[in-house]
Amino acid sequence: MKIGVLTSGGDAPGMNAAVRAVVRAGISYGHEVYGIKDGYQGMIEDDMVLLNHQSVSGMLSKGGTFLGTSRAPEFLKEEVREKAVQNLKNRGIEALIVIGGDGTYRGAMDLTRMGVKTIGLPGTIDNDIAGTDFTIGFHTAVETIVDAIDKLRDTSTSHRRCSIVEVMGRHCGDLALFSGICGGAEFIVTPEHPMNKEQIIERLKKHQKEGRRHAIIVVTENQFDVHEFAKEISEKSGFTSRATVLSYIQRGGSPCPEDRILGSRMGTYAVELLNDDIYGVCVGVRDSRMVHLPFVNVVGQKRPKNELYGLVKKVS
Ligand code: F6P
Repeated sequence: MKIGVLTSGGDAPGMNAAVRAVVRAGISYGHEVYGIKDGYQGMIEDDMVLLNHQSVSGMLSKGGTFLGTSRAPEFLKEEVREKAVQNLKNRGIEALIVIGGDGTYRGAMDLTRMGVKTIGLPGTIDNDIAGTDFTIGFHTAVETIVDAIDKLRDTSTSHRRCSIVEVMGRHCGDLALFSGICGGAEFIVTPEHPMNKEQIIERLKKHQKEGRRHAIIVVTENQFDVHEFAKEISEKSGFTSRATVLSYIQRGGSPCPEDRILGSRMGTYAVELLNDDIYGVCVGVRDSRMVHLPFVNVVGQKRPKNELYGLVKKVS
């Protein structure tokens, strides 16, 4: 079988490990694997290359995605997708493994309907995909954020300051939740656990009176203007405050062991599903086991609120 593989949407550490596994497992089962450049854009532009064992050598430890990625909004158009599918057909590629987030899965669902045997792997730092406990890239991003929080705490304590750390996650608070717990944040503000600014300021005043030397607030992006809030805290709480927006720093970097293993397991599992003629599904990890679910059960679905929220009040 000829299998195409692509990465799409925001890059995530461990995507390369997943591609490497697809290529090496694919070859070991007697398939040919084609790398499609820059996500769906490469399918539209017929930018694909045959990969071999050597092409993915040294990729396990590399962050980003060596195949490149894009958001390819044109792929939403039926006629553009038809052209892309024709490009696959011309090369005899009948199956496709896509690695990305919800937007990538939407494209994959359409391709399945159009006759391409498609499998999805959850690759995003946001951990916002239903049907899996973890997405490829999430653990590495949490490590990066925790490292930043630890550093900010050192300087905040020295100066008796309050640091606001804005992290990514789009509509999902898992990056803030996990890193906030690991970093011992005093406040964790997420879409699932919003906090009133006045409430935070009142609690900061209390912390001041108690003689605490620092406060860390971890907040998911798009909750409020963190720089404005830092000014407000400085004016009203007794702590001086500054906001740090981690932005793309948290998306880059060499994948941690969990993401290397997750990418390797998921990539191999995807090839094995195709061997069994199973497609139109996305792969997940549930209670440490590989699972797969039809795209329709996952796309657009919200994950249940993480049970770690139960811990926040008790340990912060
Ligand atoms: O999907 C991953 C993600 O990093 C989100 O957390 C963030 O909101 C978004 O991508 C940023 O997208 P862009 O790369 O287009 O700036």
